[in-house]
Amino acid sequence: MKRFLALMLSAAVCLSLAACGGTNASTSDSGSSGESQSAEATPTGEKLKVGVCIYKFDDAFMTTYRNALQSMLEEKGYEVTVVDGNNDQAKQTEQINTFITQGMDALIINPVMTSAADSIIAAVKQADIPTVIINREPTAEQMAAYEKLVYVGCDAAQSGTFQGELILETENKGDINGDGKVSYIMIQGDPENIDAKLRTEYSVKALTDAGMTVEQLDLQRGDWDRNKGQEIAQNDLAKFGDQIEVVFCNNDDMAIGALQAIQAAGRKVNEDIYLVGVDALDAALNEVVAGNMTGTVLNDANGQATQAVASMEELLGGKTFAEGEQSIYVDYVKVTPENAQDYIK
Ligand code: BGC
Repeated sequence: MKRFLALMLSAAVCLSLAACGGTNASTSDSGSSGESQSAEATPTGEKLKVGVCIYKFDDAFMTTYRNALQSMLEEKGYEVTVVDGNNDQAKQTEQINTFITQGMDALIINPVMTSAADSIIAAVKQADIPTVIINREPTAEQMAAYEKLVYVGCDAAQSGTFQGELILETENKGDINGDGKVSYIMIQGDPENIDAKLRTEYSVKALTDAGMTVEQLDLQRGDWDRNKGQEIAQNDLAKFGDQIEVVFCNNDDMAIGALQAIQAAGRKVNEDIYLVGVDALDAALNEVVAGNMTGTVLNDANGQATQAVASMEELLGGKTFAEGEQSIYVDYVKVTPENAQDYIK
């Protein structure tokens, strides 16, 4: 009912404006039709309720993202509930069902498992709740099941390509020992996640596309986790020693762990080994500035939170999305010592 009243008000606002959409609470370049809905639009003054599901609070990047999202939504006047899935899909599914029972007006969901996308989408569709999925992208086909659903994230392939380019931009293009090949280890996130898959693939592809020969010494899953990054790098450094020229990490938290192992092994980044991550966490940006990481890639938490809120407001305003138009991407940015300072918060 509240949503119906909100829509009626949105229509009334449109009628009173020469150009519909001109004064709406949010803007988005993601689509052409449909109106945005602001938080305080219900005639009764009742706040619209938004439920936010995060796959786990104990994730460095998702913490920045979650905090940005929460403060943006609250500033706009929404009543926000954010819940921790503890990396447990069964728990998150329950949380989604609870939000549905509580009559949330919109949901923002960072799935624990992308393989659960079908059942998540079926549940929100059945309840007719506008939903924005973030950070873990379902397939276009899965999303097509529900037209009041969008994905906001980034094109993971781009971040992988940027990592490869960071290596190509070094003086020896990653071939430190000059033996004609770039020998690397890959510390991967959760391999179920498309970000992990595509970063792993495209970082190396950038090198081979540029004509470099590559040698993978090891690939291990570090599940986006700093301690696991440290352990994997420590074991590989003990096993492969100077053969390792490049350490690719699917995210910064694992790269910071790897850096601890690199330093403990007496190696020096940018002299006898290269190290790249993704996210541009403050801790990583400081290491890039200090020359202890070769570079990273900005995974724009603020930009994605802004877009997620804008897309949610479009959905609340009645906009629907056709198959193939349900993924909205925010650009990654390559970060080197030259621009790292610009991104430190
Ligand atoms: C980030 C990782 C994060 C993961 C969570 C990725 O986009 O780069 O740091 O752990 O999302 O799904």
